Amino acid sequence: MSKGTALVVGASRGIGRGLATRLKNDGYKVIATVREAPSGEPLSAFDKVIEGVDVTDTQACRDALRAGLADVDQIDLLVYNAGIAVLVDNFATEPVADVDIDGVARQMDVNAIGALRVLQAVDDKLKRGAKVLFLSTILASLQTDFKGTMHGYRASKAALNMLGKNISFEYGKRGIAVTLAHPGLVKTDMTNYMDGAISVDDSVSGLVRVIERMSLSEVASSDDPSTTKSYHGALVDATTGDLIPW
Ligand SMILES: NC(=O)c1ccc[n+]([C@@H]2O[C@H](COP(=O)([O-])OP(=O)(O)OC[C@H]3O[C@@H](n4cnc5c(N)ncnc54)[C@H](OP(=O)(O)O)[C@@H]3O)[C@@H](O)[C@H]2O)c1
Repeated sequence: MSKGTALVVGASRGIGRGLATRLKNDGYKVIATVREAPSGEPLSAFDKVIEGVDVTDTQACRDALRAGLADVDQIDLLVYNAGIAVLVDNFATEPVADVDIDGVARQMDVNAIGALRVLQAVDDKLKRGAKVLFLSTILASLQTDFKGTMHGYRASKAALNMLGKNISFEYGKRGIAVTLAHPGLVKTDMTNYMDGAISVDDSVSGLVRVIERMSLSEVASSDDPSTTKSYHGALVDATTGDLIPW
């Protein structure tokens, strides 16, 4: 039985592609969006691929999504996965003098503002019972993993967190569950310079567990089932199921 229609924005590679593939295998009808068809393995496994969805281009993003979704009544799961990390050479310290201002602006555009562009384009397809998942990061938390580096990436994902939390009020009233998830440190093009990353497959398993538990109600805590917590309007660590402080 179909689990409904999932729209994965930014599904050309990495976590987005892995998650879209898993959702398809798990019984979702999957609509994948890309900026351009990837040159390697084709995306034929998905039910539909919408090309031309560049989340930094308000009109192109809207037009491509509206045209590609013209025959779709409702989206049951929206995953906003599109994201970039623009790193300066000395990103491990990133002194203010070396911050790449254009890079910060690009990250804000893709990682935060792009989410709003996508939501505006698909808002009328999100009905009671739908779920909206944003790919965020623990690096955006003001209380954890604070190293004073990667200013643009952290600030843009913190902006995404605020948008997701803010939007959860309107969407909650409409019966739509909203969650931000940290996928773990995952081995992809974004992190290929880092050690200790988990596989896309392992990350996707955690993200799927988050999606299953997304709801407007409280859910039992994974660590202590006698207590509850709400994933709605929250930042969740997909590798553990725990909430991450803002
Ligand atoms: N990897 C990690 O350890 C990690 C950790 C925490 C959070 N995250 C977040 O998880 C998400 C996926 O990351 P990843 O590691 O899979 O990165 P990735 O391999 O670099 O993939 C990024 C995806 O975003 C898409 N994208 C970039 N700019 C876009 C734009 N302007 N319009 C539409 N799509 C665009 C890319 O499409 P193109 O192929 O067209 O460029 C690609 O599909 C990101 O939001 C990232 O911030 C990742």
